[in-house]
Amino acid sequence: MKILYAASEANPFAKSGGLADVAGSLPKALVKDGIDARVVMPLYGDLKLRSTLTYVTNFSVPVGWRSQYCGLFTAVADGVTYYFLDNEYYFKRAGLYGFYDDGERFAFFSRAVLEMLFYLDFAPDVINCNDWQTGLVPVYLNLYYRHLDKFNRVKTIFTIHNIAYQGKYGLEILEDTCGISKRDQHIVEYDGCANFMKGAIECADKVTTVSPTYAQEILDPWFAHGLDALLREKQYKLCGILNGIDTEINNPSTDPSLPAHYSVKSFKKGKPKCKEALQDRFALEKDGSPVFAVVSRLVGMKGLDLLQSIADALVNDGGIELVVLGTGESGYEAFFSDLAARHPGRVGTVIGFDSKLAQQIYAGADVFVMPSKSEPCGLAQMVSCRYGTVPVVRETGGLKDSIQDCTLGEGNGFAFADYSAHDLYDACWRAKELYWKKEDWENLVAYAMRCDFSWALSAKSYEGLYNETVNLW
Ligand code: GLC
Repeated sequence: MKILYAASEANPFAKSGGLADVAGSLPKALVKDGIDARVVMPLYGDLKLRSTLTYVTNFSVPVGWRSQYCGLFTAVADGVTYYFLDNEYYFKRAGLYGFYDDGERFAFFSRAVLEMLFYLDFAPDVINCNDWQTGLVPVYLNLYYRHLDKFNRVKTIFTIHNIAYQGKYGLEILEDTCGISKRDQHIVEYDGCANFMKGAIECADKVTTVSPTYAQEILDPWFAHGLDALLREKQYKLCGILNGIDTEINNPSTDPSLPAHYSVKSFKKGKPKCKEALQDRFALEKDGSPVFAVVSRLVGMKGLDLLQSIADALVNDGGIELVVLGTGESGYEAFFSDLAARHPGRVGTVIGFDSKLAQQIYAGADVFVMPSKSEPCGLAQMVSCRYGTVPVVRETGGLKDSIQDCTLGEGNGFAFADYSAHDLYDACWRAKELYWKKEDWENLVAYAMRCDFSWALSAKSYEGLYNETVNLW
């Protein structure tokens, strides 16, 4: 089985969010299972490990009526072959997305993914596309490549990591920039816009999302950002597979970011050292209080307005400490910076994206708070379990599929269902109450650490799906 995994970011080369973690770890797990999985991504200006790349060839890619240069480079990381598509005009910029011409940049990328295959001795059975940036791959394949020998049996899977980002543009970009004529406009048109994600849902052989619960949720208008009707129509090809995490990188017994190492057998010794270092880093009092933590993009979807309305009460009445790491909307950045200023020694905030500090927080905190309004999968709750930091989550998407409340039975965290600040408060309160029952708490920490969130299981589900897709017709 040969899989081409197309993504706009992948670890260890470029990362802005969870997609990079998945694109950096699922193919690795597939390769371990004997599948020839390879990754293709853009060659960004600030790509990491650039010196490991070797040049393969170059070719031209049609972009509307123009033809653009595309360089092809390759590298091997952790046993996985990566391909990089190079065009400095499109990708040599600071950052990955957020430019006025993102539509054109990723139309180019999607077309180049297919053109690249003419120059490689690699014929994928399935191209697994991810998010809107690769949404035009299945569209172009059907429109312009299907009749060619090399492509007529290639199947496509489109994975939705977050339906909030669809790649929506004015219809005028279709003909001139994307090379999609008026006659074919209906394939990508939705609600009067060109919508790359809609095109992918229309054309891909299968559509997946990153958790079974999210696959159900996006049939509902509250979650679907306008695409629910389309998804209900295409439900026959939709399924959800829970992501895994890279348990080699996220391993508290080897993680180079940590001041002390520990495993499920030694966390009682190692974790307090990490906690102390974390309290020092944020100038927090070391009086035995539980440390609650948030590591997140500071955006509305993450449910931070709930935390905002209870944070003072939790710190004042709950006797907890709080650390926050993230960047995002200025209102949240200001709120959490101000909260730290108002509670010196009890709250610490760092506005930024710092993966080393994130690992130190996963290890040093006691409780990890994730009250998301919507969460397609979420990886942080799994990482925090692995590091023995008990998650408090809202039951949505992948949070619901990975965390079970421990109050009434076996569980690896604390969960609440309604999007309500009272319920979040209650869940945090239950967590801090249990924290003071030392033995029960240690049992919970050990239970959370033992949960298997590796790719082992989910990679098997993907393999099943790939087989099913290849045999479709
Ligand atoms: C997106 C989602 C997140 C998911 C990640 C990887 O970032 O918002 O929930 O874990 O993709 O699939």
